[in-house]
Amino acid sequence: MASTLEKPVPADTAPLSPDAVDAPETPADDLTVGATGTPAGGRVGPTERPEPPLPEPRGEITAFLLDHLRDEPHDLPALPPVGDDPLFGEDEQLALYLAYELHYRGFEGVAEDWEWEPSLLAWRRRQERAFEEALRETVGPVEVSDEGIVAQLDELATPGDGPSLSQWLVDHGEAHHVREFCAHRTAWQLKEADPHTWVIPRLYGAAKAALVHIQADEYGEGVEEDVHAELFALTLRELGMDDSYGAYLDLLPGPTLAGTNVVSLFGLHRRLRGAAIGHLAIFEMFSVLPMGRVSDVLGRLGASTWARLFFDTHVVADADHQTIAARDLAGGLVAQDPRLAVDVLFGAHAIGAVEAEMTRRTIAAWEAGETSLRRALSEPAQDRGA
Ligand SMILES: [Fe+2]
Ligand SMILES: [Fe+2]
Repeated sequence: MASTLEKPVPADTAPLSPDAVDAPETPADDLTVGATGTPAGGRVGPTERPEPPLPEPRGEITAFLLDHLRDEPHDLPALPPVGDDPLFGEDEQLALYLAYELHYRGFEGVAEDWEWEPSLLAWRRRQERAFEEALRETVGPVEVSDEGIVAQLDELATPGDGPSLSQWLVDHGEAHHVREFCAHRTAWQLKEADPHTWVIPRLYGAAKAALVHIQADEYGEGVEEDVHAELFALTLRELGMDDSYGAYLDLLPGPTLAGTNVVSLFGLHRRLRGAAIGHLAIFEMFSVLPMGRVSDVLGRLGASTWARLFFDTHVVADADHQTIAARDLAGGLVAQDPRLAVDVLFGAHAIGAVEAEMTRRTIAAWEAGETSLRRALSEPAQDRGA
C-alpha cells in the first residue's frame, strides 16, 4: 500500500508514556516504522516498567471505585449496585478489571493492601457472580457427550462460518486496523499466561505436568526476550505503539475487557479450574491459523520481521501446544476427575462467546469506517480526574 509519510517515524522515538496514544506522529497508513533490520529499542523493553496509571471512570461504579482506590485501604461504604450489563457493560467490565488488576501489576498510586481489602473483595464477589451468571446464560446448557473431551474440544476449535477478525484483516486490513487489533490485544497479551499460572497449584499429576510444559514455553523457557508477553511488547514497539502495560486501557471497550476478565475469574477461583483449563485448551487449539494470518497481514503492510515474531512464534509453538492442551491437559484433568468435563467445556464455550461479541463489534465498526476502540488511537485522552 502507498505511504503518505516521507520518512517513517523510528519506533524508538515513540513516547513511552501512557499519553503516547495521543501522539499525532503515530503513523496511520503503513507499518514500516520498525522495519530497519534491528528491533526498535532492542529485543526487550525498558527494565523499569512502572505500574500503569488508573484509567478514566466510565460510569457510577468505576467513579466510585477510582475515588476510593486513591486513598489508603479502608472499609468501602455502601457500594453502587451491579450495572445493567454485567457481561459487556463499559462500567461493569472496567470495574472488574480494576479489581482483578490488583492481583497482577496494580496501579500507580494505589496502595498494595487494596488487593485483600475485605469490603472490596465482597463487592468483587457480587460483581463477578453477576458476570458468571450472564456468561452461563449466554453459553447455555453444556452437554458432555460420549465422544470424549478431546473430540468435543476439537469440534469447538474447528473454524465455523462465523466472522473472523484475522480473516477480515487478511481481506481488508490496513495499518490502522492492525494497530487497533494490537491495542485490543494488549489487555491479554501483555500478561499472557499469567491467569492460567494460578491454576498450577490446583492441579496434580499428568494435568499439572502438561500445564507447566505449556506455561514454560509461554514464559520463554526462562529467557526474558522469548517470553510471549515480551514478544508482544516488541511487536507494539515495532509498530510505533506504546508497549507499556495498560497504555491503551482507556481505549478498550467492554467486550475486550471481558475477554481478559473471564480468564481472571477462572484463574482466581479454584472452583473454576476446569473452566480455566478449557479456556487455555481452546486458546491453544484455535491459535495457529489466526496467528499465521496476522503475520501475513503484517508482512503485506511492510512490518518488520521483528513485529511478526510474536505471531510467527505462536504458529510454531501452538502447533505443539494444541495437542498437549487438548490431550494431556484437558484430557488428563478429566481422566483424573470426570466431574470437571462440564467445566472444561464451559470455559471453552465462554471464551468463544466473549470473543465472538468483540469480533462482531470490531468488524461492524471497521465496516462503518469507524474506530473499534472507545476513541481512535490519535484522539486526545480525557481528563483522568486524578
Ligand atoms: Fe503464547
Ligand atoms: Fe501457546
